Amino acid sequence: MASRLLITKPLSLLQQEAADTEHGLKRALRAIDLVMLGVGAIIGAGIFVLTGNAAASHAGPAIVLSMVLAGVGCTFAGLCYAEMASMIPIAGSAYTYSYATLGEFFAWVIGWDLILEYALGAATVSVGWSGLVVSFLHDIGIAIPARLTAGPFQMVSLPDGSQVAGFVNLPALLIVLFVTFLLVVGIRESANVNNFIVFVKVGVVVAFILAGIGYINRDNWTPFIPPNTGTFGAFGWSGILAGAGVIFFAYIGFDAVSTAAQEARNPQRDLPIGILGSLVVCTILYILFAAVLTGVVPYSKLNTAAPVAVGVDAMKLAWLGTAMKLGAIAGLTSVMLVMLLGQPRIFWTMAGDGLLPSWFTRVHPRFRTPYITTILTGVAVAVTGALFPIGVLGNLVSIGTLFAFVLVCGGVIWMRRRQPTVPRPFRTPWVPVVPILGMVICFAMMLGLGRETWERLIIWLIIGLVIYFTYGIRHSRIARLRASGD
Ligand code: ALA
Repeated sequence: MASRLLITKPLSLLQQEAADTEHGLKRALRAIDLVMLGVGAIIGAGIFVLTGNAAASHAGPAIVLSMVLAGVGCTFAGLCYAEMASMIPIAGSAYTYSYATLGEFFAWVIGWDLILEYALGAATVSVGWSGLVVSFLHDIGIAIPARLTAGPFQMVSLPDGSQVAGFVNLPALLIVLFVTFLLVVGIRESANVNNFIVFVKVGVVVAFILAGIGYINRDNWTPFIPPNTGTFGAFGWSGILAGAGVIFFAYIGFDAVSTAAQEARNPQRDLPIGILGSLVVCTILYILFAAVLTGVVPYSKLNTAAPVAVGVDAMKLAWLGTAMKLGAIAGLTSVMLVMLLGQPRIFWTMAGDGLLPSWFTRVHPRFRTPYITTILTGVAVAVTGALFPIGVLGNLVSIGTLFAFVLVCGGVIWMRRRQPTVPRPFRTPWVPVVPILGMVICFAMMLGLGRETWERLIIWLIIGLVIYFTYGIRHSRIARLRASGD
């Protein structure tokens, strides 16, 4: 039984699948598109909201150091992803890397875990997007009925001041369905929309940094590391670690580039460029952004739903306030786009391996997109975002992602031992030091996310195990191939 669970997918078979250009998805993405996909997935709710909140509650101005720490952890993981993606350019990403290294059982666990990153991530962001749009429309005099802005498990205020339960979060529902439509219609079309959005959002982040530099008051940076209050994670050095755990969410997304492996024109060269290029761009922007935000206003004022607005108000630049809101709306749209691109491709790969129903593997005859899994994912995410107040589950998205990072770092060490001669167009430097440090930092951030998040992760994984033992284990293609002696 144990050997059955640890059955691995042969590298030769994976490379054969990666080389198949006849039956699969459309190879339309260039290196620049992949960098833009990464940036599209990374810059979102995290930088616009969590940076300010984490500064106010955990790190003070030293949130800049939290940014550096989370950025270093992600860079180590990103270097490992780059090696794996260049060696195994398959849309299943960490799921496929685990299948080649640790075996089917762990592959299933990580594939199931990635639903937290991609599908739950998209649903979480859709709720944040809805909040921003409702607020923007309100600013320009358009009111959406309150009961159409939240699901039934959340209270909303009516104009007469009374509190009632919401009905459906309509903006969240509509945006997810729109993005899903785009993803069905074509990868090139989706990438073009993403490229445009990325221009807009990087533009507003740069505008904030440049406009803010002149308003920095150095007193706001003193003390740079506020003394710990006596509680772990409340300022001081432990606050920097806790801040890193919280703002890790802002970095999630560079790994999503690897799910476009079978749509890249030259995946072995371009996937590492996409993964690492997007990470470097965003890390630099994030560190500058955090420094400016905590420089223009005292960090204690940043514990609000819209901390960036507090910073903009201090600059008294009304145009920048509007631009930031529009930039954030655009920003969150592309995060959803890339998450909703990644999830169906992971399901598509898992179905190809027999661990999910085979009809999931269908590719649209004209658009050459994995349309069945795209539509299923889109509908599930739209309904989740429309009904549940899932903003609180952001930490679950982070822990799920970190778990995948730990396994991918471990996978690099494992593969170097087991398959030392396989060509690696990109090689992670200083193995095993970089992967080990990646594992340690990512695991430390997992620990920083607290007990409740761990409990939720474990419950989620148990549900996944039930599905594997009732379905996947009996339909595995690799197990059948092995049994038939192929
Ligand atoms: N990094 C993405 C965001 O911050 C998930 O919205």
